[in-house]
Amino acid sequence: MTKVLAALNIRHLLIASLFVVFAAFGASTVSADVRGPAPIQPDLQYLNEDSNFWKKIRHGQEGRGGQLIQSQGEDWRIFRNGPLLKYTATGLGAMVALLALFFLIRGRIKIEHGWSGWTIERFNMPERMGHWILAVSFIILGLTGLNVSFGKHVLMPILGKDLFSTISIGAKYLHNYVAFAFILGLAWVFIAWIKDNFPRSADITWIKQGGGLFSKGVHPPSHKFNAGQKLIFWSVILTGVSISLSGWALLFPFETNMFAKTFWIINGVVGTTLPTELTGIQEQQYAVTWHNIMAIFMICIILAHIYIGSVGMQGAFDAMGSGRVDLNWAKEHHSLWVDKLESEDKLDKQPDETHQADAGAKAQPAE
Ligand code: HEM
Repeated sequence: MTKVLAALNIRHLLIASLFVVFAAFGASTVSADVRGPAPIQPDLQYLNEDSNFWKKIRHGQEGRGGQLIQSQGEDWRIFRNGPLLKYTATGLGAMVALLALFFLIRGRIKIEHGWSGWTIERFNMPERMGHWILAVSFIILGLTGLNVSFGKHVLMPILGKDLFSTISIGAKYLHNYVAFAFILGLAWVFIAWIKDNFPRSADITWIKQGGGLFSKGVHPPSHKFNAGQKLIFWSVILTGVSISLSGWALLFPFETNMFAKTFWIINGVVGTTLPTELTGIQEQQYAVTWHNIMAIFMICIILAHIYIGSVGMQGAFDAMGSGRVDLNWAKEHHSLWVDKLESEDKLDKQPDETHQADAGAKAQPAE
């Protein structure tokens, strides 16, 4: 860059000196020329070359010093700070509003037959470890990532510039390093649960009945994971991989050209004309934008997941807390899975210490 700047300065110096020479020449000829001073004619060839030189730089010409000006960068900046932030905030707000509305209308989904007084194992220790590595890392990445997008507008006015700056620097490092835990959790969960997440015929019934989420007393039969959970699983895996790849391009800048390659494949398959010759900086701009869009999509899905796995459904959190769920909960939400465990003699029923008081008189065995 300094070399290019130096080259530019030398060129300007040359042109300036030429003007000085012209002027001096003109001045020296005044006395000799009785018709008066001749108008100074700038050397058009040099001016032309100069403006062409600038035009090339403005249009992204790369030299030995790299690329000085990338005009599309301005378009990207306007898009990132304008529509992208606006749609991101709207998407998040809409999701939170939707969940609040669902809670107001449907309330907490209860175990309709009451606590049974018995628990069965739903997820073993390794499964829960994988889940929590993924979950905790994603929450940290989500919060620190949202700080990059919105912190300046939301936190900085509250915390002041200095504190916000200190927090943001720490958050940036946290984001960079926790990313590796997220990739680990993603791979872990994928390996642990892929076998239970292929589509099956029971999923169609589950979808037709809206998973029983919208009406009391409706419990469509389901295997270990119902259609809604399978949708969450595949969204988490695919979006998670996409976020990880674009994140990798940002962690190790100018070392990948995955967007050019992806566009080339898409063009071949769909017949589009996406650009396949991208400069390093364009690759980075696509990576930031895509990383942002995918992250917001995943945050919206996960907000719904966290809601249903905690306040939204009685008895659900135990599956990831202790790993054991109430037998009536299991029969209501995953009857085909319970049937399978029973048929294989793997039910492993144990008395429920926590909800003993709530069970008993009120409880009746679920069908
Ligand atoms: C505080 C946050 C969270 C809570 C309370 C929570 C709770 C749960 C619960 C209770 C289950 C088991 C559901 C069942 O028994 O069938 C589950 C499963 C799962 N969780 Fe989470 N989770 C959280 C965060 C996350 C995050 C951040 C991710 C991904 C980034 C995630 C991904 C999954 C996946 C893929 C499953 C299996 C599919 C499913 O059940 O939907 N969870 N979670």
